Amino acid sequence: MKFMGANELRESFISFFESKEHLRMESFPLVPKNDKSLLLINAGMAPLKPYFTGIQKPPKSRVTTCQKCIRTGDIENVGKTSRHGTFFEMLGNFSFGDYFKNEIIPWSWEYVTEVLKLPKDKLYVTIYLEDDEAYEIWTTKTDIDPSRIFRLGKDDNFWEVGTVGPCGPCTEIHYDRGENVAPVTNVEDFVAASDADRIVEFWNLVFIQFDKQEDGSYAPLKNKNIDTGMGLERLAVVVQDVDSIFDVDTICALRNLVCEIAGKEYGKTYQDDVSIRLITDHIRSATFMISDGIMPTNEGRGYVLRRLIRRAARHGRLLGIEGSFLAKLSAEVINGSKAGYPELEEKKEFIFKVLTNEENQFNKTIDQG
Ligand code: SER
Repeated sequence: MKFMGANELRESFISFFESKEHLRMESFPLVPKNDKSLLLINAGMAPLKPYFTGIQKPPKSRVTTCQKCIRTGDIENVGKTSRHGTFFEMLGNFSFGDYFKNEIIPWSWEYVTEVLKLPKDKLYVTIYLEDDEAYEIWTTKTDIDPSRIFRLGKDDNFWEVGTVGPCGPCTEIHYDRGENVAPVTNVEDFVAASDADRIVEFWNLVFIQFDKQEDGSYAPLKNKNIDTGMGLERLAVVVQDVDSIFDVDTICALRNLVCEIAGKEYGKTYQDDVSIRLITDHIRSATFMISDGIMPTNEGRGYVLRRLIRRAARHGRLLGIEGSFLAKLSAEVINGSKAGYPELEEKKEFIFKVLTNEENQFNKTIDQG
C-alpha cells in the first residue's frame, strides 16, 4: 500500500477516470438546483439526477467529479465518535447510458489494487442478493478470490436516497482493518465485523436502472447507468492507515490548529476530544456552505448553517477559548482546500465576516443569559 495525501488521492482518482475517457467536471455547489427533495447536496450523483433520468443531456456520457457533500443526519454523533462528520468529499465516476457493469467492476478493481495497491487479502466485495451478473463479472473479469464476495439484501446493496429519484442495486468494496486476524468466511461473520468497524465499506458502485416514483414503485429507466461514490476522507483513512477521519493529513492540520487555539492536547480527555473533533468538522461544513451563498437564518439550509456555527462556538467555550476564533480556523480550511475549490479563496473575506458576526451574536446571547 502506498501512502498518499488526501489532495494526491483526489487527483489520482480523477486522472484514473480521465484515462478511461471521462470528462472531469468541477464540484457542483452545495445548494441543489431545481430539486425540492434535498436541502443540501449529499452525494456525488445528486446534482446529476437530470442526466440519469434523461431530462437533460450531459456534456459527455462519461463524467468524473469530486463533489463537496454535507450530511447532517448523524449530527448528534459528530465529535463523539472518530468517524462521524457532516462534511465530506465524494469521488465519483458516472456513466449516462454509456458503460455498465462489465466495465466498472474491472476498472474499480484495477484502481484499488493497481493504482492504490491495496492488498487483495484485505479486500471484500458485497453484491445484491439476486445479482448473479455482478458475481459473474467479479469472478471472471477480476482476480478477486470468490470466497471474499458476499451477497446482501436491499438494506445494504440497493442504493436509493430520499423517496424519489434514480436508484438501483449496487456492489460495494470493503477494507479489513483488522490486524493479525483470520479472514471472514461467511456472511454472518462479515456483517458482525462490519458492525464492529473492523471491516469498512469505502466504495459504492451503483447500477442506476430505476427512477423511484412517489407511489414507491420503481420505473425502469430507458438507459442503464453507473454512479459510483467513494468518500475521500474514508478512503484516506484506509490508504494512510490511520484510525479516523480526524487523523487524515489535511484534517489533522485543522484539528491541530483547534488544539493550538484552545491550548489543549488531543487525546488527553474524552470531553475535550469531543469538542475538538466537533469544531474541526463543523468549521469545514460552515466554510463551504457560506462560500456557496448560504447565510445563517432560522429555517431550511440557513438553519443548518446557524446550528453548525453555534455548536462550534459553544464547544469553543467548553474548551476555554475566549472571544471569536472561527474565522481563524476557516482560514486553515481554505488553505487546505483552495487548490480543489478556488471559490473559497475568492470569497474568504466574506466567509470570515459571516462567521464572526454569527459567533459574536451567539456569544452576546449566551453572556446576557
Ligand atoms: N450514490 C451512491 C452513494 O452516495 C454512490 O455514489 O453512496
